Amino acid sequence: MTTPVDEDRSELLMELLADTRLDAVSARRPLSPVPDFLRIPPDRSNLVALPEPAAPRAGLPDVLLDRVSVHYFTPAALTGAELAAMLDAAERMDAQSWPQERAAGVDLELYCAAWRVTGLGTGLYRYLPEKAALCRVAGLPDGAAAEELVLQREFAWAPALILITGNLAGALDRHGSHGHRLLLARAGAAGNAAWLAALRLHLGGTVFAGLLPHVLRERAGADGYHRAALIAFAAGQPATGAPA
Ligand SMILES: Cc1cc2nc3c(=O)[nH]c(=O)nc-3n(C[C@H](O)[C@H](O)[C@H](O)COP(=O)(O)O)c2cc1C
Repeated sequence: MTTPVDEDRSELLMELLADTRLDAVSARRPLSPVPDFLRIPPDRSNLVALPEPAAPRAGLPDVLLDRVSVHYFTPAALTGAELAAMLDAAERMDAQSWPQERAAGVDLELYCAAWRVTGLGTGLYRYLPEKAALCRVAGLPDGAAAEELVLQREFAWAPALILITGNLAGALDRHGSHGHRLLLARAGAAGNAAWLAALRLHLGGTVFAGLLPHVLRERAGADGYHRAALIAFAAGQPATGAPA
């Protein structure tokens, strides 16, 4: 049941979000859609269907104050439904907050580097929200070899990482250099929405820089311009204490 205090907090969150969107809706010059040659055609092969997103197990006000960055996780796998809930939250955050940017062709893309997710083989996947599915784009090493993919090796020990990329070329074409900041704000909002969804499932994690740039370039065609890595979220069951 929501209380007046919960409503106040939700209102505050919505006001904060509205502030981050102000500059996208009050551009000083006419904005045009991103031309086709700056867009990456979608790949919809190798699909793996996702289950329905897991329903939250706690209210946001009950878990928000205990939110803390978690770097280390138990060996427990995430369920496909938990992963679906985090991806869905990130996607909905962007769809609801920046509809004009998306309609103009400035897209965010969500990827998942999965090591321990029930029903998913180890690999790199792109989320296709309109199909409630993942598209497998590449394999990934596991064990010690996975540590080569990240700057901080502990993130390769997570059950899964959600990686957020955006069309920087399209954003710059539409907004000038200000487009980069807008993309970062959108990715931050999406990454944190995934985090809040994780908290409500009694999971934990942290936002961080993501896979090393060459890894996404080689495995997901992220050239840093038409598809640029923006932020990532490591998710899992929080472990107590860091391993030596
Ligand atoms: C844009 C951004 C990038 C970040 N990148 C990293 C990172 O690469 N590695 C890391 O350990 N933490 C990273 N963090 C996480 C912060 O360091 C972490 O949230 C901070 O230590 C505060 O901890 P707290 O959230 O528990 O208060 C990043 C946070 C943000 C907002």
